[in-house]
Amino acid sequence: MGQLIILMTLCAITFRVTHQFSQVDPKFVPALPCNLSACYLPDCRCSSDIPPGNLVGPNIPQMLLFTFDGAITSTNHPFFDQVFNDRRNPNGAPISVTFFVTHEFTNYSLVHDLWASGHDIAAHSITYNRNMAYWRTLSESGWRSEIVDQRDQISRFGSLPTSYIKGMRAPYLQMGGNTMFTAMSGSFEWESSRPTFNQRVPGLWPYTNDYASTQDCLIPPCHNDSFPGFWSFPMINFLSEDLTPCNVLEECVPIPRTMAGMYNLLLTNFNDQYQRTRAPLVISTHAAWFLGPPDRPEYAQRMSGLMQFLDYLGALSDVYVIGISQARAWMQTPTGMPDIDTFVPWREDTNRVRSCVFPRNCRYSNGTWERIMSSCIPCPLYYPTLHDPLGIGARYFGNDEGQLIGLID
Ligand SMILES: *[C@@H]1O[C@H](CO)[C@@H](O)[C@H](O)[C@H]1NC(C)=O
Ligand SMILES: *[C@@H]1O[C@H](CO)[C@@H](O)[C@H](O)[C@H]1NC(C)=O
Ligand SMILES: *[C@@H]1O[C@H](CO)[C@@H](O)[C@H](O)[C@H]1NC(C)=O
Ligand SMILES: *[C@@H]1O[C@H](CO)[C@@H](O)[C@H](O)[C@H]1NC(C)=O
Repeated sequence: MGQLIILMTLCAITFRVTHQFSQVDPKFVPALPCNLSACYLPDCRCSSDIPPGNLVGPNIPQMLLFTFDGAITSTNHPFFDQVFNDRRNPNGAPISVTFFVTHEFTNYSLVHDLWASGHDIAAHSITYNRNMAYWRTLSESGWRSEIVDQRDQISRFGSLPTSYIKGMRAPYLQMGGNTMFTAMSGSFEWESSRPTFNQRVPGLWPYTNDYASTQDCLIPPCHNDSFPGFWSFPMINFLSEDLTPCNVLEECVPIPRTMAGMYNLLLTNFNDQYQRTRAPLVISTHAAWFLGPPDRPEYAQRMSGLMQFLDYLGALSDVYVIGISQARAWMQTPTGMPDIDTFVPWREDTNRVRSCVFPRNCRYSNGTWERIMSSCIPCPLYYPTLHDPLGIGARYFGNDEGQLIGLID
């Protein structure tokens, strides 16, 4: 009898506890104003323009975070090779940049190459659907299919460990509010999708989403729930020559058409951070803006301006061109200039072993449509799509696109 009562009491307690939890769904906790005494590193940081770790000005290594969005192809890969390879940070490690990869037309053996060269590979969707309303209203499971599944897709066809894919960016910077953050925060460590104009100078530092963000919401909907430990890397607006704000370089008008114009755009916006509080600067652009036909010299001019800027940075001992995942590691353990040479996450990562030795060009067709996909592993039987990211079961997943019809050289 006594045992039965204890058992019943236990059941009652268990019931109350579970009941409470189900009422307070952790996915829908509104974010409160940030509490500095409860939010501190390494796992929490309020959104703020104050540098972390009590570091000031010249003691802070300036982080430059170049990002490129879109497919990695045989057309743009030589550009990345030419511009970013053979350059080193002051600690001797190769510089690295962040690639937000989309699936369609991506050559996965080239993704492997960029990863093996030390670059940061991040997710940017399987479909890259051009319809903004699609992203604005996408469901939680839709975001998982587009972005979380894409992580497995990149990892598999690009032969790189999933653990290297730590971040994501919303396509076209069109975020999906709490829904997107709910889907992303459990699977990724960081996102970088949200531009800021109000906190341009002094620049807004990266922050976690435990508490309400102070950041302006330029492309709604933005989230307002709490997502503990999930980092946001704000995209500080650039200002063009006539002081118009731009979220990505291509939007900066007047559009630079000369080497000097390109160099000056990069240099002035860099100095806005470097000569002040040194907030990490995300520089977001696309390879297509630098690669054009010979009768349009402005593309080559922009590329020369970019190279000149990188040459200039190479002469500065306190500027680091790194991937966002490396910057996130720094945010958790802010390290001043005197110790930066030995800061492990910024050293060369010798675990990135090249293993895409026999890439295959897999050819798919359904009769009216054809696609060739380069893969580091044997060709999947079906062309990988949304809902069938690994290309394993066309009929089951409603994948009526391509069936494997062979390999080409
Ligand atoms: C802030 O956090 C501290 C430490 O956890 C707590 O004691 C305090 O009540 C919090 N303040 C508010 C306004 O929530
Ligand atoms: C949170 O954001 C959603 C839209 O993303 C909005 O409908 C809702 O009113 C916001 N909640 C608060 C408390 O501001
Ligand atoms: C992908 O890149 C590799 C390495 O450069 C190349 O051999 C292959 O032909 C490319 N595949 C396609 C489909 O462009
Ligand atoms: C082949 O795939 C394309 C692209 O998804 C689709 O539009 C078309 O309807 C498909 N054709 C057949 C015969 O299944």
